Amino acid sequence: MKSSIALAVLLVPLVAAQVPHWGPCPEPTVQPGFNLRQFMGRWFEIARLPAQFEKGRCIETNFTMKSDSSIRVVSSEIYKGEIKKIEGTGVTEDMKNPAKLGISYSYVLPYTPYWILSTDYVNTALIYSCTDVLRLFHVDFAWIMSRTRSLPEATVQKARETFENNNIDTTRMIMSKQQGCDKEL
Ligand SMILES: *[C@@H]1O[C@H](CO)[C@@H](O)[C@H](O)[C@H]1NC(C)=O
Repeated sequence: MKSSIALAVLLVPLVAAQVPHWGPCPEPTVQPGFNLRQFMGRWFEIARLPAQFEKGRCIETNFTMKSDSSIRVVSSEIYKGEIKKIEGTGVTEDMKNPAKLGISYSYVLPYTPYWILSTDYVNTALIYSCTDVLRLFHVDFAWIMSRTRSLPEATVQKARETFENNNIDTTRMIMSKQQGCDKEL
């Protein structure tokens, strides 16, 4: 069993950062026949849940396969004029559910869910992460990702509908800032 202290350390900031929802996590459908290799590469964050206004801009994540079939996950953003990077490790947690990845950004933290609900690998990916707290309530994160820094409004709307159809509330979803990124990098 994992230490309850580690769990508390993980969950306290998570819970404090947002409004938890009552009840256990929803059980969304995930991408059928998920192909991990096709998912690798560079993805830009187009929109996110929950709204965290203090975060940086130009957020992107680069996924690459490691030789042991785990995934190197490098996320970067521009915050106060500087490029900040964090590196994590991704794993397929259950071979029967290849679209359900886990990502950890530190060896002291457990893997948190990183579920690919839907992707065509070349344009968009819808990501969901949810953690149950004692089956009483849950805290969740969702991202609309794209291979390019912007997506047509209709595509964003369709992505939100996909979340909503899986009982994921996107009312508090905000658009990420991807303007003026490349000239500074
Ligand atoms: C993504 O990571 C790979 C492996 O480290 C690297 O070769 C590649 O240049 C990176 N791509 C971007 C856009 O950062």
